Order: sequence, then C-alpha cells, then structure tokens
Amino acid sequence: MRGLLSAAELDRTCIDSLLIAAAAHADGLATRAERRQSVVGLMFFEDSLRTRVGFETAAARLGIATTVVSQLRHTAEMAVAESFEDTVRCVAPWCDALLVRHPDSEALARIAIAAATPVINCGSGADEHPTQALIDLFAVQRIRGSIDGLRIALVGDLAHMRSAHSLLLALRCYDDVTARCIAPRGLQMPESFAGPFRTRGGTIEVDTHLRLDDVDIVYVAGLPRTSRNGVSLADQDRLRIDRQRLSCLSTHARVLCPLPRVDEIAPEVDTTPHAAYFEQSALGLPMRMAVLERILGPPAT
Ligand code: CP
Repeated sequence: MRGLLSAAELDRTCIDSLLIAAAAHADGLATRAERRQSVVGLMFFEDSLRTRVGFETAAARLGIATTVVSQLRHTAEMAVAESFEDTVRCVAPWCDALLVRHPDSEALARIAIAAATPVINCGSGADEHPTQALIDLFAVQRIRGSIDGLRIALVGDLAHMRSAHSLLLALRCYDDVTARCIAPRGLQMPESFAGPFRTRGGTIEVDTHLRLDDVDIVYVAGLPRTSRNGVSLADQDRLRIDRQRLSCLSTHARVLCPLPRVDEIAPEVDTTPHAAYFEQSALGLPMRMAVLERILGPPAT
C-alpha cells in the first residue's frame, strides 16, 4: 500500500490484514500495552494563552503527547453541526485526560457526564478555574513561605471572575485566612463560594473601596474597561491598581493577577517590588506538570 486515495484500491486481502492489525491495536490499547505514551486532549472552546500553551508545554516537559480540538463544530453556522457532548464522546476515548475550557459555566458538568476520561476544568464561564487557583496558591506559598494565616484582598468583578471563585474555594483548606472581597456593589463574591470558605473557618470582609494597608497579597481578579457586566467607569477607576494606590502597602505585600491584565493594573506597577504576577505566571508550568502527573499517574511500562 503506497497510499490510499480511493476504496477502489482496496482488495479483500488488504482489508483483512488491516482488520487483524486494528484488532491487535485495540487489544493493546485496552491492556495499556500500547499506552506507554500518555495523550491529553486540549479542548479549548474559548481563547486562552497561559492555560492552553502552559498545559501544552507542561505535557511536552513530561513527555506527554497532546491533541488539540479548538474548532467548534457544534455551532449553527457550521455546515455539519453536532452537539458538544458528541464531540467530547468522540475525542475522550482517544485520550487519557481532557483539558477543557468553555464559555458556558454548565459545560464542564455536561462533559464530565459525557466522558469516561478524566476532565480538568481549564476555565468554565464565570464559574471556576481550579488549576489557576493551584498556581495562585503555589505563588502565595513561594512568596510567604506559608498559606496559613494569609490576609488577602480579592479585587475586581468578584461575581464573574472565575479565578477568584476557585481561589477562595481552595483557601478554605488553610487555617486562619482572611479574604477581603473588594468589588463594586452588585458584583460581590457569590455565596456559593464565600459560604464554603466561611464554613471552614475563613473570615470574609466585604468592601467597595481599595483598603490594602494590612494585607499580604492583593489579588487582582479583573475589572477591565471592556467588562460587559455593567461596571461603571467610576468603579473601574476606583479599583484600578497604580503606584499611588500601592503606596499604603506593607513592604512585604505582593500583587498577584491570573492575567491577562487589561487595564486593572497600571503598567507602572510592573517595576515596583510589589509586582509578582509574572513570577506567578512562570510558576504555572511546574504546577501544571504536577496536575498532569497527578491525573495521569505514572506511565505504563
Ligand atoms: N490565567 C488564564 O487563565 O489565562 P489564559 O486565559 O491566557 O489561559
């Protein structure tokens, strides 16, 4: 067989030999004998730089192959549309894990039902971004040496910023943490995230003004001017982080941001000793490697 352009080129002998070879591969895959190389499926149905490229890079560092699905085929505009669940059902059996981002908050739950393969939430609408939370905790630990006893200000549109939701949920696992939630009126942290944190002993303070003098970490969750969530210009200006507003910070305090930063942090902050968001972004690689190892386990031998 030098190629295959038409089924007219196939004869019975050729087809039978391919059926036998495919059955051997099916057996090998089923017994993991042919799964020495893990494969993760990157299904990103919404823009991403850090999470998508970060996980691709983490997989490469670990010798894990990636397969990428970014072409939506379930929108009405497509010539042949199919349901989102059908796309997942087809890709999942080929992979050892699916890394998924979707603009719909409900989509990840639907995927987890449709796929027998483990699913990692890489950002689900305005709901959650748990791997970003792990990166954030890693950055806090590197900066402070400990996460227990943390005083953190979460700043921005806390109603819709998924990274802040997941970070607060993850912080419930630590002792004596105070989270000051600084957001415009109507955009405060939802109770579905604040409740579990409080129940586990965390303290929530609610504010609408930047009060940062006694915190260890300022976590800028995002309140960009491009926000479509009814944020006023006055709100955006009031919560924008610039050099002057950081002048009240303790010398040890650091500013973190999951990025992308639009205009919530003035570029002049980048050169202050408080800026730690690019170091935080760099820590994404080792944490994403740790997540992949934890989900996939050791390679089959
Ligand atoms: N922090 C984050 O999720 O960035 P991306 O949108 O670029 O993946």
